[in-house]
Amino acid sequence: MTETAKMCTVRLAVIPAAGLGTRFLPATKSIPKEMFPIVKRPAIQVIAEEAQGSGITDFVMVTGRTKGAILDHFDRAPELEAVLERDGKVDVLSAVIEPTHLMNMTSTRQHQALGLGHAVLAARPIVGDRPFAVMLPDDLVQGEQPYLRALIDAHEATGKGVVGIMEVRPDEVSSYGIVQATERADGNYDISDMVEKPDPADAPSRLAIVGRYVLPSRVFELLEQTTPGKGGEIQLTDALCALAKEEGMIGVPLSGVRHDTGNVEGYITANVAYALNDPSVGPGLKQRLQQMLGDEDS
Ligand code: UTP
Repeated sequence: MTETAKMCTVRLAVIPAAGLGTRFLPATKSIPKEMFPIVKRPAIQVIAEEAQGSGITDFVMVTGRTKGAILDHFDRAPELEAVLERDGKVDVLSAVIEPTHLMNMTSTRQHQALGLGHAVLAARPIVGDRPFAVMLPDDLVQGEQPYLRALIDAHEATGKGVVGIMEVRPDEVSSYGIVQATERADGNYDISDMVEKPDPADAPSRLAIVGRYVLPSRVFELLEQTTPGKGGEIQLTDALCALAKEEGMIGVPLSGVRHDTGNVEGYITANVAYALNDPSVGPGLKQRLQQMLGDEDS
């Protein structure tokens, strides 16, 4: 066990992965978007690696119909492994086994996609009364340090619920949960209120919530009381808004680059960004992109 994991009070992360992924239809008709590759790893593995680097040891995967492949990815594959072993493909074999070592995995089902808040609530019987992380698998954060770790540090220092935040353009505020916050001496923010997808004129700031959270179990009681909000869904932001008003929350500014892989353009951009950083494909891809963009300009 690493030193980080020993000190860590937040060891469990809930991954809500039961959404319908309608922006990717027809691809998501039978394949979970969480299994779409980022270069050669599925997006959900990139999330699991950030979690492990942050000291998380246990995952609660909230899934639904068509999401079975996510759980298979974190399980052993004896037939495949036997073939790779027989053929002496040692590197591929270890890449196939690696995800099984990342986490202890538990899963639960959200029977109907009634919103992110509803998905988080589905994990309540497993989480119980301990503080826990929530990681949205659509949000990939590419950086030097695992971003979730900074949120866990802020929780350990203050005992409060924590959200990831980033500054967005004025025309983007209506796509995000937006916080009302004041900067602290340590560079984080004290959050007193938040609103889901506000009109730009009503937005309390341009600080948007990123898909990383560290939450007290109190949030489950608040979710129980939350009625369907925007889009008829039970919104996590509505419960967090109540939590922020009740006891305050902390916002930790994004470190690194965030890719929203829940939309097609963001997903393709993420793949290009990760691939350019990968020595096995980066140089060739760079050359091809330069050719393509050069051809377009001429
Ligand atoms: P999104 O609304 O961005 O994802 O939810 P979606 O619903 O899957 O995609 P679209 O909008 O139809 O294209 C953010 C996160 O919350 C999860 C999603 O899986 C995603 O990780 N989620 C959302 C649930 O687990 N259950 C829900 O009912 C809704």
